[in-house]
Amino acid sequence: MPLVPMRQILDEAAKGGYGVGAFNVNNMEQIQAIMEAANETNSPVIIQASRGALKYSRMIYLKKLMEAAVTEFPRIPVAMHLDHGNSLDTLKQAIDLGFTSVMMDGSLAEDGKTPNSYEQNVEITKAAVDMAHPLGITVEGELGCLGGIEDGHGAGLSDEEVADHLTDPEQAEDFVAKTGLDALAVAIGTSHGAYKSGRKDPKTGEVLPPKLAMDRIHEIHKRMPNCHMVMHGSSSVPQELVELINKYGGEMPGTFGISLEQIQDGITHGVRKINVDTDSRLAMTGAVRKVFAETPDKFDPRDWLKPAREAAKQVYLKRMEAFGQAGHANDYEPMSLEDMKKVYNS
Ligand code: G3H
Ligand code: 13P
Ligand code: ZN
Repeated sequence: MPLVPMRQILDEAAKGGYGVGAFNVNNMEQIQAIMEAANETNSPVIIQASRGALKYSRMIYLKKLMEAAVTEFPRIPVAMHLDHGNSLDTLKQAIDLGFTSVMMDGSLAEDGKTPNSYEQNVEITKAAVDMAHPLGITVEGELGCLGGIEDGHGAGLSDEEVADHLTDPEQAEDFVAKTGLDALAVAIGTSHGAYKSGRKDPKTGEVLPPKLAMDRIHEIHKRMPNCHMVMHGSSSVPQELVELINKYGGEMPGTFGISLEQIQDGITHGVRKINVDTDSRLAMTGAVRKVFAETPDKFDPRDWLKPAREAAKQVYLKRMEAFGQAGHANDYEPMSLEDMKKVYNS
């Protein structure tokens, strides 16, 4: 099966009332782990690459790895998505490489740091749709800004500032109507990375869960029941993965993630794409640290890459079950970009 347009995966998820994990990749081991997990759970899946991932993998390697993935597992619907595209040029690069979906993150300027005005966001996102839809390519946009700072990407907002940059449901309606996008990334107080909360108990100093504005998701879903929402920064940052890292020499105090229950609440209210990167990073790092600490004589990279790949796979398996995509890989006939072009033209 060739790569499918992400729009189809999201439309089918909406019909079935489930969510689909969008997992970030940079290398072969992550792609293999995702595909093995998708195959074992019979899940449709979204694989995504950031600009950093494109640079790291020197693009052509990622393209060939994705070709290998769909060749090895022909019955799994897979969409290849550009995460946080910062300009039309970046989107074009990804489309030329064979991506079936792109994110135009117009919430921020091209530097990936400065918040854009609403009008700028509408303009660039609409331009992305005008460029991508005639090719059958899906477009994700973002309204509002995430908290914290994303590795080299993000406005670096404090917890207080985040409150001013949450997605406004009324504006979301206008944004979707004006841009014609396929999927809307919402800002509800999540942030990228392993430190999703700046809140501490004043007495104990213990880190408290991040404050999420789930009501924004509920309200957007009420206003636009057919709008596919995207939750970024949705790693759960499991304590046991962090503990493993810290046990074997890591130093990661004060981490916090998003609970699976909150994500499931989002899925019940229109969230169809759930972005997870950090959890696989944590799993792989813990596994590698363990090998290095327990068997310092090892020097064959396969001795640590294999456990790292297996640890990432365990994360993907759990997320696929929890988001509900498991069991749905063969519910539908995959569409081609040509098929999707016709849908957009009709
Ligand atoms: O956008 C956030 C993702 O976790 C990707 O991160 O830019 O370090 O590849 P990255
Ligand atoms: P996490 O850092 O929570 O995994 O979020 C990843 C993400 O949103 C990628 O766009
Ligand atoms: Zn993101």
